Amino acid sequence: LEISVASGTRNKTAPYLHGLFFEDINHSGDGGLYAELIRNRAFQGSDVTIGGSSNIKGSHIVASENPLVPWGPTLTGWRAIGSARLSLDVLNPLSTALPTVMRVDIPVDATGEVGILNEGWWGMDIQPQEYTASFYIKPAQAVYSKSLTHITTSLRSNATGEIWAAEEIRVDGPTLSTLEYTQFRSTLFPAKAAPDSDNTFAVTFNASEVAGNSFFVSLVSLFPPTYKDRPNGLRKDLAEVLAEIRPKFLRFPGGNNLEGLTIQTRWQWKKNIGPLTERPGRPGDWSYYNTDGLGYLEFLEWCEDMEIEPLLSVYAGYSLDITNISPANTVPQESMQPYITEALEQLEYAMGSTETKWGALRASHGHPSPFQIRFVEIGNEDFFSSSYYWRFPLFYSALKAVYPNVTFIATQATESSPSGINTAIPAGNMWDMHHYETPQFFKDNFNYFDNWQNASGYGDGVQIFVGEYSVLSRDRPGGVDWSNGVGRFAYPTMVAAIGEAIYGLAMERNPHVVQLSSYAPLLQNFNAYQWTPNFIAFTADTKDTVRSTSYYWQKMFSWYKGTETLPVRNSEGGFDPVWWHAAIDAEETGTLAAGRVYVKLINADTTPHAITLNLDVKVSTVNGTILTNEDEYAFNYRNNATAISPKTFTLDESVIGNGGKQVTYELPGLAIVVLELK
Ligand code: AHR
Repeated sequence: LEISVASGTRNKTAPYLHGLFFEDINHSGDGGLYAELIRNRAFQGSDVTIGGSSNIKGSHIVASENPLVPWGPTLTGWRAIGSARLSLDVLNPLSTALPTVMRVDIPVDATGEVGILNEGWWGMDIQPQEYTASFYIKPAQAVYSKSLTHITTSLRSNATGEIWAAEEIRVDGPTLSTLEYTQFRSTLFPAKAAPDSDNTFAVTFNASEVAGNSFFVSLVSLFPPTYKDRPNGLRKDLAEVLAEIRPKFLRFPGGNNLEGLTIQTRWQWKKNIGPLTERPGRPGDWSYYNTDGLGYLEFLEWCEDMEIEPLLSVYAGYSLDITNISPANTVPQESMQPYITEALEQLEYAMGSTETKWGALRASHGHPSPFQIRFVEIGNEDFFSSSYYWRFPLFYSALKAVYPNVTFIATQATESSPSGINTAIPAGNMWDMHHYETPQFFKDNFNYFDNWQNASGYGDGVQIFVGEYSVLSRDRPGGVDWSNGVGRFAYPTMVAAIGEAIYGLAMERNPHVVQLSSYAPLLQNFNAYQWTPNFIAFTADTKDTVRSTSYYWQKMFSWYKGTETLPVRNSEGGFDPVWWHAAIDAEETGTLAAGRVYVKLINADTTPHAITLNLDVKVSTVNGTILTNEDEYAFNYRNNATAISPKTFTLDESVIGNGGKQVTYELPGLAIVVLELK
C-alpha cells in the first residue's frame, strides 16, 4: 500500500474531540469513582430489579445481587459487632432527606467490644494514608450510671480481624443529647497496606460503658485521600486513569440515569447539591439506589480538576417507563414550564455570578467563582419518545435566550410531528448520535461523516457529537447481539478496538463535522454491573483496575490527535483492510514537540501489510506506538490487565529513503498504530 502525506492544505482538528461520558451505571459512581468507602451509609434505599431486568431496552444484566426488597431501606453492608443488635428506625430521622437511621441496641448483659461494622463496596482498599471518618449518633436514652467516655473507630481485616488503624474518640457521654444528633469525626492512618481489600470499617463501644443502652446512627462516612484532595471527591486512582487519556470534556449525568425510571425519580440537581444530610438520593435507572453524593457541584469540580469542559445534559421532560415506553412519561406540554425553569436555574447555579440567586447558592456551597459551560445537551436518546419535536424547541429557545454562547446538543436529528413538522437543529448546534454496534458496522460506515452535512440537509451549520459508542458484539448474521448471547462482548476485545478506532479515524478526518466523541459506558465494577462491554473495569482493590483495548486505542488517538489534519492520498488500493489518517502537531501543545507528523494506520486483517509512506517534507526519525494482538477476541482482564496495551518502538533509519521523504513500514496484522515522524 502506498500512501502520500502532504503538508499542504490543512484543517484544524476538532479541539475537544475525545472526551468522557459518565453516568452511574455498573456501580461506577456509588461503589466506584465516588470515593466514599461506606456502602449504604445513610440507609437510603436498596438495590432493585424490576421484572427481572432493570434495563428497559432488554440489554445485558449481570448484577451479582438479587435484592428482595425493591427500593426500601435495608441494612445491606452492615453487621453487628459483639452482642449489639441492629435494626432500622424511622422515628428518629437524621434530616428530612435522610429519614431512616440504624438503631443499635446493646443488651444489658453485653460484655467486651460492641458496635457496628461496614463491609464497604465489596471491600475496602487499605493503604498507609489518611482516612477521614465521620458519623452521626443520638442516644435513645440519656446515659445514666454507665457513662460513655469513648467511641473507637477502626479499619480491620474482614478475614482475620487484624486492626490496620484505630482511633479512640473522647466522648462526654452524659452530655449527648437524646433530642439531636451529634456528629463525630475521626482520622485513621494505617501503618501499612493491608494485603488485600477484604477489609471493614468499625465503630465500637466498650460494653461496660453502654450495656442496656441504644443508639441511633446514620451518615457513616469514610474517605481516603481523593483526586486533587477534593472533600467529598473522586477515587484518586480511578480519576487518574481517566485523566491519563487526556480527555477534553465530560458529558454527565446520563444517559438513562438523567431521565429517571419515572418523572418523579429523574436526576434532580437541586436534590444533589449542598450538605450530604440534605441529599435524599434516588432510585437510579440501573437497578441500584444512588446516594447522589457525587452530585452536580462534584461533577463541575471534577471538570475543573481535570481541566476539561463540562458537557451538561439537562432533563427535558421525558423519562423512561419502567414497564414500557409510553407517553405517560412525557411531561404534558402545558406543564413543561417548571422543568424549563429547573434547567435555567441549573445553568445559573453553575454559571451565575454570586449576585444571582443560584450563583449565590453555589458560593455558599464553597465555589464562589462561576464555571463556564460551553455545551448543554437537551435530554437523552429522545428518539425513544414521540414528543421531541415540540420539547426540544421549548427548551432550546428558553435556554438559548439566556445563554447565547452555549452550543446546544439535540439527541435526535429529525423527528416528524403528526402534522409533518420536523425537529430541526438550529445552525451552530449539534446532534448527539449513539452507536452500539459490530466491528463491521463501523467499517461499513467509515464514510458516514464525509457527506453527512449535505445528506442530512443541515449543511455546515450543524455538527456531530458521537456521545455514546462502542463495539458491543462480534460480527454475526443479523448484526449486533443485544441479548445476553454469545455474540455480546463481556469486555472490549482486540477486534472491538479495531472497529471503534476505524470510526475514530472517520471522526478525526472530518473535524468540520464531528466535534466531540465519548465511549460508553465508562466504568464497570466487577462486583455488580448491568452492561458490558465497558471502558475501564475495577474493584475496591486498586490493583484490580483494567484498562480495556478500547481505552488504549483512545488514549493513543487522544495523545496523538495533532492540531491540523494533513491531506493523504493513496496511489494503490483503497481503505479496507487498512485504514489511515494523518495530522500534524503544528504548534507546541502539551508535551508534544512542534511540527511532529502523526500517521495513524489500522490493519483489520490478520496478515501484515507493507506500507510505503511518501512525504513532501523530510523526516529523520520514526517512532511509533502499537496496539496489537494476534487473537481478535482477546481482551484485558484482572491479573492480565496489560496483555493488550500500547508498546512504543523506534524504526531503524534504514526504513527512511528518498532523501528523508519516504518511509517503509511493515504494518502487523490486527494492529492499531500511530507513527510519529519528525
Ligand atoms: O450507556 C448505556 C446506556 O445506553 C445509556 O444510559 C443510554 O443513553 C444508552 O441507551
